Amino acid sequence: MSKLKNYWKFRGIPGPPTTYILGNLHEHLNIKRVNVLQLKDWTKKYGKLYGMLEGERKMLITTDLDLLYEVFVKKSDIFHGRRLTPLLGNVDDYSNFLVNVFNARGNRWKRLRTLANPIFNVVTLKTILPTVQDSVNECLKYIEEKEGKPINAYPFFQEFTIDVISRIALGQTSSAYFNNEYLDIVRDVFEKRRETFGELLGFIFPFFVPILKSVAFYFQLSTAKYFTKAYGKLNKAVRERKMLRESASALKDMEFLDEKQRIDFIDLFLDLETSNIKEENAQPFDKTKIKIEKKLSTYEVVAMCFVFLLAGYDTTATSIGYFVYLLAKNPEAQKKIQEEIDSICPNHEPTYEDLQKFKYLEAAIKESLRLYPLAARAASRQCMETTTINGLKIEKDVYVTADVFTIHYSKEIWGKDSEEFKPERFLNIDEKRHPMSWLPFGAGPRICLGMRLAYMEEKAFIIGLLKKFNIQKTANTPENLQLFGALVVAPESVDVKFVQRF
Ligand code: HEM
Repeated sequence: MSKLKNYWKFRGIPGPPTTYILGNLHEHLNIKRVNVLQLKDWTKKYGKLYGMLEGERKMLITTDLDLLYEVFVKKSDIFHGRRLTPLLGNVDDYSNFLVNVFNARGNRWKRLRTLANPIFNVVTLKTILPTVQDSVNECLKYIEEKEGKPINAYPFFQEFTIDVISRIALGQTSSAYFNNEYLDIVRDVFEKRRETFGELLGFIFPFFVPILKSVAFYFQLSTAKYFTKAYGKLNKAVRERKMLRESASALKDMEFLDEKQRIDFIDLFLDLETSNIKEENAQPFDKTKIKIEKKLSTYEVVAMCFVFLLAGYDTTATSIGYFVYLLAKNPEAQKKIQEEIDSICPNHEPTYEDLQKFKYLEAAIKESLRLYPLAARAASRQCMETTTINGLKIEKDVYVTADVFTIHYSKEIWGKDSEEFKPERFLNIDEKRHPMSWLPFGAGPRICLGMRLAYMEEKAFIIGLLKKFNIQKTANTPENLQLFGALVVAPESVDVKFVQRF
């Protein structure tokens, strides 16, 4: 026990004092303090590289960009696991129905990622864009009703992103604003915005996780309740789609087959479904040699839909929320985006090619993600095989985590004005930065799968919004945002008003 408590001390690595059993969990999971900001405080105190414990989990926290590059990029075949909630159980177990591309590792991750990658290629994105645009227009109708009034705009952004993901991934055929069947479920998962007591137990007693998980699902406790609801709905949607496909192909129903041209991820995944996956998930994992079986189990079809629902909704809504808040505070930046709109698509909705021309808008989105890297918590890797990097021995099962907030606010990297919103810093192509200095989407082969979709949604939404409205501060707009959350770090509300432009 004392060996674990002093694990980092024995290795000469500094860090916050640990206690028996909890390690640093009591501070790290303190609900009054966002844990990624806690890491920032510790970095200030202990420097570029320090160690901490989450129960039995050994964590190395670092802002050393070269070390991060080795871990996330160069040695990604050794660091291919993620830091996950202990309640997920064994992610290498093929009967674990919760495993998806976000939480899988090794060969299984490689297969899921290879199969999911084409979903976000240019051809698919172009097919999706009209649906995204239609969802933007629907959302603007609701925003119009609140024109000129001080509002909390965050729920509108959540409605928008859940509408998009439900329509492109989950079989919903038209917009369902303020009536989306998934929203209440996923909102609960995120709005809890902190680890549960069950997770805490899972960290401390990892060997009890199978029992904890069964109890949580049996009695429908906490997050298990929302997972059950979401999986129930998704299972139903997938089952119904399978039946429809079977009857459609039996009848050679041309109308349905045409409908399939409209991209829906359920169909893409069902095309790959099989009852039998033959795969070795043994270590070490050789990212170059493995042969990919182009198949998904039925569990995985549902789990893939689930991860898109979960990963694609709150992240993008929150990102739009921060951006709108920053634009309210920076009318000059708004004006520059409106100038871009007026020159690129004054009288038509932007095409995919138009979206690529919005250089200032893109720089401003990047800058907002620098100031608010909302999913910083995900930038972590599990070492799957003891290795040495630049003289530092990292043992199997140690987690290496990037302190993204410190990196994103570093004056060394971003200059004296690192606290300010300045999109121009992303326009200057001569300004060379380390590849790990901007990490809102993570890095390496496990970088965010939905990044291109997120950009497309955010650009289309902001273009639609700023074409019609100016965003203004209200008496409730705070000077500094109070942040909350665990999985995704979010503002409590986005208090602004939208004022008709013309
Ligand atoms: C602004 C919006 C978003 C942000 C800031 C964001 C951020 C992140 C981050 C930090 C990671 C971890 C990357 C790493 O470990 O290196 C991640 C992974 C992931 N994201 Fe996103 N994300 C966003 C939108 C989306 C969307 C729209 C989707 C899908 C619809 C999505 C799907 C995923 C998936 C599937 C992974 C796991 C990738 C893997 O492990 O191979 N994300 N995201």
